[in-house]
Amino acid sequence: MSENSNGARENSMTVTELRQKFLDFFKEKGHIIIPSASLLPENDPTVLFTTAGMHPLVPYLLGHEHPLGNRLASAQKCVRTDDIEDVGDNRHLTFFEMLGNWSLGDYFKPETVAWSYEFLTSKDWLAIDPAKLFISVFEGDEDAPQDEETAQIWQSKFEMDGFAAEIGVPGRDKPAVGKKGARIYAYPKKNNWWGPAGQTGPCGPDTEMFFDTGLKHDAAFGKVCHPNCDCGRFVEIWNDVFMEYEKTADGKILPLKQKNVDTGMGLERMAAMLQGRSNVFETEVFQGIFSALSVLSGKIYGYGSDITDRSFRIIADHLRAAVFIIGDERGVAPSNTGQGYIVRRLIRRAAREALRLGIKEPITQIIAQVVIGEFGVHYRELETNRGRISKEMSQEEEKFAKTLEKGLKEFEAMSRDKLISGKEAFDLFQTYGFPLELTEELIGERGGNLDVAGFDEEFKKHQELSRTASSGAFKGGLADHSIETTKLHTATHLLHRALKNVLGEEVRQKGSNINPDRLRFDFTAPEKMTPEQIAAVEDMVNDVIRRDLPVHCEEMTPEEAKQRGASAYFEEKYGDRVSVYFIGDETEPFSVEICGGPHVARTGELGSFKILKEEAVSAGVRRIKAVVGGDEGQG
Ligand code: SER
Repeated sequence: MSENSNGARENSMTVTELRQKFLDFFKEKGHIIIPSASLLPENDPTVLFTTAGMHPLVPYLLGHEHPLGNRLASAQKCVRTDDIEDVGDNRHLTFFEMLGNWSLGDYFKPETVAWSYEFLTSKDWLAIDPAKLFISVFEGDEDAPQDEETAQIWQSKFEMDGFAAEIGVPGRDKPAVGKKGARIYAYPKKNNWWGPAGQTGPCGPDTEMFFDTGLKHDAAFGKVCHPNCDCGRFVEIWNDVFMEYEKTADGKILPLKQKNVDTGMGLERMAAMLQGRSNVFETEVFQGIFSALSVLSGKIYGYGSDITDRSFRIIADHLRAAVFIIGDERGVAPSNTGQGYIVRRLIRRAAREALRLGIKEPITQIIAQVVIGEFGVHYRELETNRGRISKEMSQEEEKFAKTLEKGLKEFEAMSRDKLISGKEAFDLFQTYGFPLELTEELIGERGGNLDVAGFDEEFKKHQELSRTASSGAFKGGLADHSIETTKLHTATHLLHRALKNVLGEEVRQKGSNINPDRLRFDFTAPEKMTPEQIAAVEDMVNDVIRRDLPVHCEEMTPEEAKQRGASAYFEEKYGDRVSVYFIGDETEPFSVEICGGPHVARTGELGSFKILKEEAVSAGVRRIKAVVGGDEGQG
């Protein structure tokens, strides 16, 4: 074996081979291999798609007996849509496969860690050099103690191979080089606790495995690198969760009847590491799609054009996901609600990227055949549903092409003032089938803005008008959308204020985007926020929510608004009179902001507030993703 660019031993293992190896390994360890469950969860109205291997197993993790026994393993189809607009960079996928093994009250920490280590490092399996592996464990808090046991088991494994595997403090102790130095690091809940998948359910401390890509540490992310550093040197490859707790509806963490194990390994990401690739799009699974796109566009992936590469990645990811969702055993067709709306968005975003690549003819048929060819052997349902997949995808593409042409003309006229009102966005949605996100993206490219809350208001109005005609699905789908986005809109104001309070008045909003699942807020800050700062912001917002402060709106001139301390999105142009939203009491409001609304009446309606992610967007600009209502998110 020779060293490749990642410093991993040369290893040409394909995604298909890796999937099979994982299942073979756990079969050998007494596990029953269960087939992937549907991508569209049954009996779970709280999520649109299956987001993790453990998802279909929740009842069994809670103590129901599984008919196939208490040792299970699978390769599970998953879709995560929180990051849909981030696809195009080289890290995010909407559809992916998760490999996992489970103990339902059977084995616990010693076997779990031993098998993870064996599978990763043994010459018979993945043969990764232990020098490339780094580990994180839970540091302990009021809900569960520090996981010293797991750290010790890891140490003994590494020691058997001659590695000291010392415990390091993140940000203080440099990662080990060779056989000596820090290899195991402890982190708080934010990093080393998983679940529940929804608001309640099984959860627990976890231990994560990281692959050292050998990239040089980027000092912009902190003085000393460590496994959870954002610089990109370490890539998380496997997560072993010790699911021995349950989160209850009142927010308590209680011990479960049985101690479970739930592990998850992202198949594409692991394959990329083994192949010495820097990202999932360079593994062989996407090359067939890229070749087809090259023939269609006359352009080549990876030849220096970031714009071309981005379009290739978006098309490949989105159409692969669409094939799997439509071709699922419980598959859905593109539509305007729920899961169907996601499929519509995926196909239309891909179709738009094809235009950007200069492709004039339809592409979905061709790409769908490539995807089915690649995955149909393992996922037989794709073969079975080949006809339906082709028909639905090309119909959607055709519909989109027709309306797009007309809609784009309308859009150009509407966007002259760089502002798309809620009504205009709704007209584009209703008449031309423009997904809201597409309009947002188009106006964003022109440096303009879109009134998302106004769109929701229009949507609600329209829905009231057509209530008699509307189906239950319609109500359940996008009606909640507007309530959720209104809450997130208010949460955005609270977050903006709290950031200024914690980081300083110089914090400036750089952008904001809300979808029913989460808010996204971009702001200026010279460096990454510390965990303490993140906790302080979160606490401050939750405190305002707990105090159930009133929200009210007044109209005034922009001058007056400024005098009364209003924050504004400084890149926006304002008219003679503006609406100003006050949160809190008249004399000393917590937040004052120029804004079109709508907002909730009292902050208590938000329930609770949680920051899911804090990351860099560009130099000096940070991004926060957050949710309300006690959602823990997944990841
Ligand atoms: N549920 C955990 C995850 O999704 C481990 O499988 O990462």
